[in-house]
Amino acid sequence: MIVLGIESSCDETGMALYDSEVGLLGHVLSSQTKIHNKYGGVVPELASRDHVKKLVPLLDSLLAKQKLSLDEISLIAFTNGPGLLGPLLTGAAFAKTLAWANNIRSIEIDHLEAHIFSAMISEKNLQPPFISLLVSGGHTLVSKIDQHNSYEIIGKSLDDSAGEVFDKVARKMGLKYPGGPEISMAAEKTKKSRYKFPRPMLNSNDLNFSFSGLKTHVVREIEKIELDDKIITEISYDFQEAIIDILIHKSIFAAKMFDVPRIAVSGGVSANTRLRERFKKESQDIDVFFPNLEFSTDNGAMIAYLGYLKSNETTVNN
Ligand code: KG4
Ligand code: ZN
Repeated sequence: MIVLGIESSCDETGMALYDSEVGLLGHVLSSQTKIHNKYGGVVPELASRDHVKKLVPLLDSLLAKQKLSLDEISLIAFTNGPGLLGPLLTGAAFAKTLAWANNIRSIEIDHLEAHIFSAMISEKNLQPPFISLLVSGGHTLVSKIDQHNSYEIIGKSLDDSAGEVFDKVARKMGLKYPGGPEISMAAEKTKKSRYKFPRPMLNSNDLNFSFSGLKTHVVREIEKIELDDKIITEISYDFQEAIIDILIHKSIFAAKMFDVPRIAVSGGVSANTRLRERFKKESQDIDVFFPNLEFSTDNGAMIAYLGYLKSNETTVNN
């Protein structure tokens, strides 16, 4: 069966085709980064309007590239939340209309669940049970995935998500949105820093996180000094190390607690090069998996893939 996946929960319009026999056939993505950049964050109304503009052309180009027509698609999977209301509505209206008009079944997909399973698209050795660390702009969650692909949340951020804190600290230093890649690039220029920021809840003996205290600490430090490139680099370096220390420590703690030998890290922050490097080095005897870089941040492939995994469930609409 071929599944069409449609993602529109925030500032990326993504579409993909997943074939149950062959795997991922192709995907297309239109990013709105340039539109929102000057505002320092996503403007929901502008995001909705751009999704409306992009959905039809993206579908046309995806089908043309794969030399497929709509009647070869058996299921349309679309994101139904969480996310920004307007962007979600544009995607849902498009997906349901397309499904209804062409007599194709449709299924609503949870965006977070799609991130959780995204590494399985390319990593054939990743099979449940595994521990998932989902680190995105909106969420920081640790979950346990069992043999039946169902997940249980076992830890989460009690305040800001890791991605949100990357974005806010970057903005405070005058860097562009989204802040994660900017901080990562700045941090790459050094291997040491005069700063040593706190690692909140590192040893709290549970699986929860708190990043807002770290954010406030860094922001106060920025307010005290005159920023130059060297200081931005050093702040970025230790701030990024602090977040990575916490994410790695908690994930390994979860894997040991539940005696699960695999960890899958997903969501936008999982695109971070240093996080990927350190996870692989520090994970001891635990196998660590990541999605392909292009599927760390929001995309249609993870929606199509989860649609395929769920295609036998009763939640599929005829
Ligand atoms: O998963 P995602 O695309 O959207 C949500 O579902 O939230 O994640 C976006 C987040 C942003 O906060 C962005 O700054 C962060 O992922 N991000 C990164 C990197 N690339 C994206 N954070 C750290 N390092 C990166 N390379
Ligand atoms: Zn996401």
